[in-house]
Amino acid sequence: MTYKRLPVGGAAVPPVKYRQADLADIPAAARLRDGRDEEGGASADRMARYLACRHHPQQALMPRTIYVALEDDSIVGYIAGHLTRRYECDGELQWVYVAPECRRSGTASELLRLLAAWFVRQGASRVCVNVDPNNMPARRFYARHGAAPLNEHWLVWNDINDLGSDRLISRIA
Ligand SMILES: CC(C)(COP(=O)(O)OP(=O)(O)OC[C@H]1O[C@@H](n2cnc3c(N)ncnc32)[C@H](O)[C@@H]1OP(=O)(O)O)[C@@H](O)C(=O)NCCC(=O)NCCS
Repeated sequence: MTYKRLPVGGAAVPPVKYRQADLADIPAAARLRDGRDEEGGASADRMARYLACRHHPQQALMPRTIYVALEDDSIVGYIAGHLTRRYECDGELQWVYVAPECRRSGTASELLRLLAAWFVRQGASRVCVNVDPNNMPARRFYARHGAAPLNEHWLVWNDINDLGSDRLISRIA
């Protein structure tokens, strides 16, 4: 899948491509967060063991996936999710991360749509995500896409099928 990012300041922007990740993508994906004290990912070792079903977040089930976003064949973002029984949900968004220079151009939104479609194909509708109460960019991102508060540290999509629907409105200040 290929999508053209909107030009920033008139500069030419390479098209962003999206695809499911395999284990060979993990080192480059994990490096995006190197040296940054941000949520949204883990070490390469943990991410690889997660994708290979050898690391299991609490109450995780085996089906899981990671999608990557690429510019000029370089990974600029990723999203990961799995089926779960946590909080009576069917799915959990595990990680999402976009390189700082690529933010606010819709990359995470497209990754989220791809993961949502994967959840739907898995028969999952109620999907949760853990987010620090102080991570306002992430909270606004999730709210923009219709997630509602579940408790202080968790948000939930009661029906991930709704993602992208015109009916969605921001529900978090
Ligand atoms: C959160 C994150 C994934 C968003 O990625 P992104 O590619 O910039 O997101 P998008 O461009 O798709 O943003 C879609 C919408 O989300 C909201 N949003 C995203 N970042 C925002 C910010 N910094 N401040 C306010 N709103 C924001 C906006 O409504 C935005 O739409 P707009 O740009 O038209 O206003 C990115 O900031 C990131 O990687 N942060 C560090 C990792 C992290 O915190 N992950 C979440 C862990 S729970």
